[in-house]
Amino acid sequence: MRNDRNDLEKVIVSEAEIGQRVKELGERLTGEYEGRNPVVLGILKGANVFVADLVRAMDIELQMDFIMLASYGASDTPGEVRVKMDCETELAGRHVLVVDDIVDTGQTLKALMELLRMRGAASVRSCVLLDKPSRRTVELEPDYKGFEIEDAFVVGYGLDYAERFRNLREVCAIKKRVYAVE
Ligand code: IMP
Repeated sequence: MRNDRNDLEKVIVSEAEIGQRVKELGERLTGEYEGRNPVVLGILKGANVFVADLVRAMDIELQMDFIMLASYGASDTPGEVRVKMDCETELAGRHVLVVDDIVDTGQTLKALMELLRMRGAASVRSCVLLDKPSRRTVELEPDYKGFEIEDAFVVGYGLDYAERFRNLREVCAIKKRVYAVE
């Protein structure tokens, strides 16, 4: 079955806009991390597509790794993060660039960055493709970001709704009726 584009409201960020911005971010990160052999740490699953493009826009020696986190339940303590699948790389003394698809409340990224500092990383910075600043519940400003967007539920370029639409080349808002029915 094809991706059902009837469930999509509109394109929020086009493929061309993403391509251009990833190139710019890659050039900036190349300058900042040259000679530091960073660990580019993608948060699974959403950041997978973004990381794949971003590292190819960075013309330096680097390592890639991934970490998978559990999503929050109501009973979880803020500031804590549950690691579902850990990265392999020893992070103590390393410069870590955490890459995520989107910052919403900011809880995931903030908690993960604290955890990586506790593990002794030499530096921890964040790079996100999308930022929804209006939804923030904790103090967190990504160090590098692709685009600020309004509060809409978006899919594509790695982001999903119930595991659908991760493989769209662009970022789209989905229709309210799609996620409001559950
Ligand atoms: P936060 O901890 O609230 O910042 O949540 C961030 C995570 O929630 C992201 O890594 C995504 O997995 C998910 N998320 C937040 N907003 C969206 C969205 O609009 N579409 C798809 N996933 C989202």
